[in-house]
Amino acid sequence: MKSNMAKWLDNAIFYEIYPQSFQDTNADGIGDFQGIISRLDYIKDLGCNALWINPCFVSPFGDAGYDVADYYTIAPRYGTNEDAKQLFEEVHKRGMHILLDLVPGHTSVEHKWFKESMKAKENEFTDRYVWTNSIWEAPEDMASIRGVSDRDGSCAVNFFSMQPALNYGYYRIDKAWQQPVDAPGPVATLEALKDIMQFWLNMGCDGFRVDMAGSLVKNDEDGKGTIELWKKIRKFLDEEFPDAAMVSEWGEPDKSLQGGFHMDFLLHFGPSHYNDLFRCEEPYFSGRGKGDISQFVEKYLESYEKSEKKGLMCIPSGNHDMDRLARTLSQEEMKVAFAFLLSMPGAPFIYYGDEIGMRYVENLTSVEGGYSRTGSRSPMQWDDGVNAGFSTASKEKLYIRQDESSDRPTVKKQMEEKDSLYHEIKKLIRLRQEHKALQSKGEIEFVYAKKNAYPFAYVRSCEEEKILVVINPSDREESFEYDVNAGQTIYTLGGEIKMETGRVTIPGGSAGFVVL
Ligand code: GLC
Ligand code: CA
Repeated sequence: MKSNMAKWLDNAIFYEIYPQSFQDTNADGIGDFQGIISRLDYIKDLGCNALWINPCFVSPFGDAGYDVADYYTIAPRYGTNEDAKQLFEEVHKRGMHILLDLVPGHTSVEHKWFKESMKAKENEFTDRYVWTNSIWEAPEDMASIRGVSDRDGSCAVNFFSMQPALNYGYYRIDKAWQQPVDAPGPVATLEALKDIMQFWLNMGCDGFRVDMAGSLVKNDEDGKGTIELWKKIRKFLDEEFPDAAMVSEWGEPDKSLQGGFHMDFLLHFGPSHYNDLFRCEEPYFSGRGKGDISQFVEKYLESYEKSEKKGLMCIPSGNHDMDRLARTLSQEEMKVAFAFLLSMPGAPFIYYGDEIGMRYVENLTSVEGGYSRTGSRSPMQWDDGVNAGFSTASKEKLYIRQDESSDRPTVKKQMEEKDSLYHEIKKLIRLRQEHKALQSKGEIEFVYAKKNAYPFAYVRSCEEEKILVVINPSDREESFEYDVNAGQTIYTLGGEIKMETGRVTIPGGSAGFVVL
């Protein structure tokens, strides 16, 4: 493992907060920083010791804040920079850490850089974005913004059409307007990015989750140019902020970790087969038991070997871009899923509300560029008060409609029910915190992961101990050959594991951890 990885990542358990939807304290129907501060004790009590907050900067919110208009100022609807500073302090007081969301690939069209860049007269920002030389020529392979400026040219977009692509240069040049990575424009963009990072790190944040981290250098199919770019950033951080943690939204750990990221996510896009687990027609974690985990494991091992000793691969429970787990899995199935999520290497990421099995809210009209993602972004359900304790605003004022079903899960109900998903997750987190082998850097060896088969088993180990993890999401009893003497069982869900005469047998819908 890279020596400069901050120690706290060894046992980091993240909680992702979508700030819009977590806790509103001034009755405007939208979450805010004071709301997050007021819920830090809840998060700590759950056992999470780190936070990732989705973009919270000034923005027209055409893509939920992933369209930044001012990187240096907290969006007024969430509070002020002073509130951000207070949040960092409150997080640290509790021994926790916090990552902000850095969006380096594009800005909003409302960003002052873009407004300057659109001017016909050359200026400091002319080359801040990817422009062709003529309105009649569009960049290949990318959509573009055209006909909006006095400047002649089309500007490439990185995601939605109001997110112009910042210019970090081209790895392979095939057109006159494409600039190499060391041209003055791309170099200045990189400096501007460092400046933003420096600003927030100086204020007290502990690092960044980096949006679309693999997308920066263009014409760079193998990611070589983008990897080089991140190495430069890592060098700058090593010199000035050696403890800053960097997590990439890249989905290809073999590349991102080479770039100096400490962690990368397995995601709903990219080659990881992550969707086979929870989000496909027959997810592996469904009780129907018709799923397949073998391709996931194959790909996992491939990345694990390539990224060995370089950093961590993180498997999130979900995020603001994916369907909620509860859309495909029941509460009982989610317990088994969390036994897996919380016993894998890398830092686990729990998406707010997944700890109580919050549902995907169906049939919502898109809010802030969410489209099908909107249903996974509904306001947190705390208790049986007005708007489930999220906000005292009138229901109509909530910026996204809440799950209105009468049996919607809430934190309060789940805390009261002894065998709830919430308590299971809390138990699993405690166990992870007590056993180093289960934490970020413990090694993993898959001992049973066959095509279309159940259960699924692996051994996590560190110098001091070895723990066998057996996971059987299917509702049938299953077994596999494994010649090992029974050890001490430290966790069971859904029934005892039996280990005898070279076989491990596990009941349907269950999980177990055994110290070997
Ligand atoms: C990332 C974000 C997503 C956003 C997109 C564009 O994938 O997670 O929410 O829309 O990047 O910034
Ligand atoms: Ca508010």
